[in-house]
Amino acid sequence: MATSTHTDETLPAGHRYLDAAATAPLRPEAFEAMLNVLRSGQANASSVHSAGHRARAVIEHARAEVAQACGVRPTEVIFTSGGTEANNLAVIGLALAHSRGRHVVTSSIEHPSVLESCNYLGRVHGYEVTQVDVDQMAMVDVRRVEAALRDDTALVTIGLANGEVGSVQPVPELMAVAASNGVWCHTDAVQAAASLPASLATGAWPGANVHAMSIASHKFGGPQGAGALLVRDGIPLEPVLHGGGQERGLRSGTENVAAIAGFAAAVTAAVRDIGTRALALAASRDEFVSQVLATVPGAALTGHPTERLPGHASFVIRGVSGESMLVALDAAGIAASSGSACAAGKDEPSPVLLAMGVTAEVAQTSIRFTLHEPLTPAMRERVVTVLAREAARAAR
Ligand SMILES: Cc1ncc(COP(=O)(O)O)c(C=O)c1O
Repeated sequence: MATSTHTDETLPAGHRYLDAAATAPLRPEAFEAMLNVLRSGQANASSVHSAGHRARAVIEHARAEVAQACGVRPTEVIFTSGGTEANNLAVIGLALAHSRGRHVVTSSIEHPSVLESCNYLGRVHGYEVTQVDVDQMAMVDVRRVEAALRDDTALVTIGLANGEVGSVQPVPELMAVAASNGVWCHTDAVQAAASLPASLATGAWPGANVHAMSIASHKFGGPQGAGALLVRDGIPLEPVLHGGGQERGLRSGTENVAAIAGFAAAVTAAVRDIGTRALALAASRDEFVSQVLATVPGAALTGHPTERLPGHASFVIRGVSGESMLVALDAAGIAASSGSACAAGKDEPSPVLLAMGVTAEVAQTSIRFTLHEPLTPAMRERVVTVLAREAARAAR
């Protein structure tokens, strides 16, 4: 059995994984925690025998760990199958449970799991959805959110950071005006929580005015298929999955005990050094961005230059389709992405870039590198060489 769980070490020799925002490499702590659960024998956490009790204890221990890492109470953690489900539960569950009305405010660059949940509310439950526009750096303006609020607004849902271009929103300010008017406020922190000290390591939510926050295990270096919606005690929530009443009736379905244990171990490990890690990643990312912009003809950074996730570098490169750049990078042993892996397989320009005012033609040239550890100078050189070569070839 493999002892290493580091994605770089499972790639062919010399290859490097620069796609942590799609899924971060599995942390050894998560691997160990899952192995411990699997070795001790699988049982249903709702069963009354002692094996069931042991499974229940693993889940409650994991809940306490996630709560501690996120600065919330254990009763405020609802385990889900990941970020998508947490977002569905937040958007649909909070809106349906609020008596204030049938209007929801979101932004034009949210993850599909948020936007499609809003669309579902509109299609099936007659809600009106206002999508607030963003600027060229993918930032949401507080005044636009304020202007969108109505007497019947039930929910504002705006992500803490965008997965494609890395821009980090001023969520505390965005939510303050909504919360003071009795509107529920949700933030999708699936990309941000694993690397942004402000969201977790300080033991605080991203501002006192956030009522619910989505997180996903695989962005912390935990297993895929686990996540949580953190919901403040006392905020009503309509379940989306109906059945046996697990998770205090808010999310039915037999719990994935091993994945939950791995998730908790990953969050705990990630939060331990989140501040120093963020600084190291941002420094490396800044060097990389500077070198790309100085060396690669036709390259431009997408997203906000400073208010961005620490390990996140995203570009458009004139004349080179993102797909062909990915192939060239892969041939050089570099795993990157041309935007959001969650929308992969769609050969359409990124809706996020279009919402930022980028033309469809330029949006096709997007490329994204997301670091889980600082780049060595040699690796930086290798990536920049491929980018420059392909850009020069396209310019001929
Ligand atoms: C901002 C954001 N929200 C939600 C998701 C979906 O999370 P999951 O892949 O755990 O379903 C992603 C996935 O990358 C994301 O980037």
